[in-house]
Amino acid sequence: MTTPVLIASALERHYEVSSGMFRKPSILKAVGGVDFELYAGKTLAIVGESGCGKSTLARLVTMIEEPTAGKLTLDGNPMLPEDWADLRKSVQIVFQDPYGSLNPRQRIGAILEEPLKINNKSMPTEEREAKGREMLRLVGLRPEHYDRYPHMFSGGQRQRIAIARALMLDPKVLVLDEPVSALDLSIQSSILNLLMDLQERLQLAYLFISHDLGVVRHVADEVIVMYLGRAVEKGSKEALFSNPQHPYTVALMSAAPQANPSKAKKRIKLMGELPSPLNIPDGCPFAPRCWKVQDRCRSERPELGGDAHSSACFFPEP
Ligand SMILES: Nc1ncnc2c1ncn2[C@@H]1O[C@H](COP(=O)(O)OP(=O)(O)OP(=O)(O)O)[C@@H](O)[C@H]1O
Ligand SMILES: [Mg+2]
Repeated sequence: MTTPVLIASALERHYEVSSGMFRKPSILKAVGGVDFELYAGKTLAIVGESGCGKSTLARLVTMIEEPTAGKLTLDGNPMLPEDWADLRKSVQIVFQDPYGSLNPRQRIGAILEEPLKINNKSMPTEEREAKGREMLRLVGLRPEHYDRYPHMFSGGQRQRIAIARALMLDPKVLVLDEPVSALDLSIQSSILNLLMDLQERLQLAYLFISHDLGVVRHVADEVIVMYLGRAVEKGSKEALFSNPQHPYTVALMSAAPQANPSKAKKRIKLMGELPSPLNIPDGCPFAPRCWKVQDRCRSERPELGGDAHSSACFFPEP
């Protein structure tokens, strides 16, 4: 059994939000107790609707924000804020927006070399440049691109540059927050294929965040489905797609476009609106929208089981 590179246990992140001038601030539970493990060469996908806490989770794992509760460990060592500066080399992130994430005034070479300038001051200039150029080649761009500016590239090329930059410090973990959502469909698969090539070559562990089940199906090994800051189902991609257990997962899948329309399932329309994360229902958070809801679901909160494929539901699909 291989050991995980990164472990998240009971990870939580709460925000205090103002509820008016003379009122006590309310607590928004953006992430409410999530567990997972990342392995070298493997992809864990996190999927869920807008606002379910995916990017918050990404900020915790990449040490942009501190968890309110719970624990993260990297190679067996706790990821404590006093060690973040060192640990950040090992955990890098690629964001959704390839336009906003690159400094328009810097040449590509400078963008790529910057992480090394900051984190590896003793590295000789020539070595730094050689590494930047090698990385550019690795992500499928040409040597002459080194001296150009971001505005001279397409969205897909910019995302390649962002990926190259994230790899400059030889990280072990790459967090990808909707890395292809802003790109044309025709470009998406080339970027996904690049990510999969790089993963195999460099044995990277991916935390891959997406709201798109088609994308998840393409890249994931394991999948966690999130709803209102909690994991409602986890399992291998095969198990989860062939036999979704949680009614929420079933509904998500019924709404995803099917390559083969004859196989398309009947679309399940969820009742009601997504509850506010400021006011998460007691019991099962999905109960107000669930077509299988029973009394027990409203009073008692179902937890995720310990099995490889499990769901936080009292009445899962068989
Ligand atoms: N700094 C903050 N202060 C207060 N609330 C926040 C903060 N950051 C996020 N939230 C809230 O936490 C919840 C989760 O947000 P998050 O951005 O993690 O969702 P997401 O799953 O990434 O959504 P999307 O798919 O739209 O990117 C949302 O309700 C959001 O409004
Ligand atoms: Mg997000």
